[in-house]
Amino acid sequence: MIVNIRRLVNIFLVNIFPLNLVFKKFVNLVKFLIASKFKTGSINYLPISMDIEPTTGCNFRCTMCQVSLPDFAAKNMDIETFKKVIDDNRQLLKIKLQGMGETLVQRQIFDMINYAKSYGIVTETTTNGSLFNRKNIELLKANKVSKITVSIDGATKSTFESIRVDSNFDTVIEGVSLLIEQCNKNLIRPQISAWCVLQKSNYHEIFKVFDLCRKIGFDDLTFQIQLSSWGQDYWVDKNKSMQINFNAEQVQEDFEKIRNLGKKNNFNVRIFEENALNFNKQCQWPFRSSYVTVDGSVVPCAPISDPKVVTMGNIKEMSYEKIWKSKTYDQLRENIRENNLDEYCKDCYREYR
Ligand SMILES: C[S@@+](CC[C@H](N)C(=O)[O-])C[C@H]1O[C@@H](n2cnc3c(N)ncnc32)[C@H](O)[C@@H]1O
Ligand code: SF4
Repeated sequence: MIVNIRRLVNIFLVNIFPLNLVFKKFVNLVKFLIASKFKTGSINYLPISMDIEPTTGCNFRCTMCQVSLPDFAAKNMDIETFKKVIDDNRQLLKIKLQGMGETLVQRQIFDMINYAKSYGIVTETTTNGSLFNRKNIELLKANKVSKITVSIDGATKSTFESIRVDSNFDTVIEGVSLLIEQCNKNLIRPQISAWCVLQKSNYHEIFKVFDLCRKIGFDDLTFQIQLSSWGQDYWVDKNKSMQINFNAEQVQEDFEKIRNLGKKNNFNVRIFEENALNFNKQCQWPFRSSYVTVDGSVVPCAPISDPKVVTMGNIKEMSYEKIWKSKTYDQLRENIRENNLDEYCKDCYREYR
């Protein structure tokens, strides 16, 4: 009980405190909330959050990830590009350092975190958990990252390693356990979350993943139920053989059971449905956030994340505000509002699956 209260206080302090720092953020947030409530036509605010891709380099080759394609290029975002994103966006409340690649292989990741923090922006990251050595753990703690999400796509060595190709299950579990142990020594510490992308090849372990994550000491666990197809036909086809049918009665019953188990065990479990949309539950990405790739391209969302599929402009060539308020971005928003979807959006919508 005391441990849980402490965790909640830590998460609150680390996540909420920087909001007080900047008036600009407050004004932008109010404008955003008003626009969301009244669904106003024009966009008179800037995004409140952003995903920034620090690298496309990775030490794994996960079966469902674009990184596993043979011609996928490994690049790092340079610090100047990162600074330009932040300089153009001081209204941001939060950034997620995450993209097609493994965050902790980017050597300048802590410079990036520090730069964002100096503008009162809360930082979080998602990682494959393979590089939690003592040095990286100390740096994550020292730089006060607010949330660290670790991908846990299986509860057994064989399932985990068959999805997360080139991984070592034991290294990840040992690394995460060390991270949690070290972070628990401090009163204020990051939220440490587990993320599991459910697919046919790991669905049978859904309850085991729950047990494992709880036992290791994660703060919470999210199950993502739909694979992204990155706006590409190749992945739409490939995903057909990997994707679970989350509308099936048995699956819905399992979700209910796992939510109840979470409540009973005081362990927060969430089913992530942000890319499982329909005409009544429309995409929110272009109204709230953007995804900036390693080379500075602004892509509408993380489920696409590929500037070859669609790009709204490049941060190195013009101001972010100009891109965000451009006719192209506005057209995308209008298409979403009217359910007149662009080709690359369709795979997120039930009506087109
Ligand atoms: C692309 S990875 C980048 C961060 C880090 N390398 C990792 O694996 O956590 C971010 C998240 O996307 C998930 N992911 C990969 N391919 C996906 C797909 N096709 N659909 C949905 N999520 C996917 C990963 O499992 C991971 O949780
Ligand atoms: S570790 Fe992350 S970025 Fe690397 S291949 Fe797997 S999902 Fe993709």
